[in-house]
Amino acid sequence: MTPLRSLIATALAAGLASAAAAQDAGDNIAVAYEEDGRYFTADDIPTYNVAEDGTVDWLTFSGFRRYHSECHVCHGPDGEGSTYAPALKKSAVEMDYYDFYSVVVNGRENGNSVMPHFGDNRNVMCYLDDIYVYLKARGMDAVPRGRPAKKEAKADAIQEDENDCMG
Ligand code: HEC
Repeated sequence: MTPLRSLIATALAAGLASAAAAQDAGDNIAVAYEEDGRYFTADDIPTYNVAEDGTVDWLTFSGFRRYHSECHVCHGPDGEGSTYAPALKKSAVEMDYYDFYSVVVNGRENGNSVMPHFGDNRNVMCYLDDIYVYLKARGMDAVPRGRPAKKEAKADAIQEDENDCMG
């Protein structure tokens, strides 16, 4: 290929890749269905739901609380990040759900930068979907900083899952 043609080919490929990434992010967010008070994408990945009047789904509200009790000391308020740990509002949008889970379960270490493992901590594991969807809502600017003002009622099924998980 001539340099110009290869440049065009590279630019085209980059454009396609970023369109695909945007598509992925959309797929990773949009609500496809609701089940027992939980919202999911078409790929059965938990996601948030914010009504027009700002009412958030229960998981988003619960995630706000759980995030601020378990994660914010390192990751900063509202998922904004800190000098020590990354902005999880971005991670929740950009990372694959299962990768996000795996880092929390197993922890991760990079020199002095240490993410603890939470796999045996029920106060985290029983609410990890809550934390994840809350952060995704923050990353998409679907909810403002601070405590969500209005929330859906907690579905019985969510309470039952919680009781089972917490034992
Ligand atoms: C003791 C401090 C600390 C706490 C508490 C903590 N983290 Fe972390 N976390 C870190 C650090 C530091 C990193 C970056 C690790 C690295 O450099 O590999 C990290 C990385 C992560 C990542 C990967 C982000 C990315 O973009 O690659 C996720 C996901 C994560 N943490 C989730 C959580 C969640 C959810 C909680 C609360 C349940 C939590 N963390 C609590 C320190 C912490």
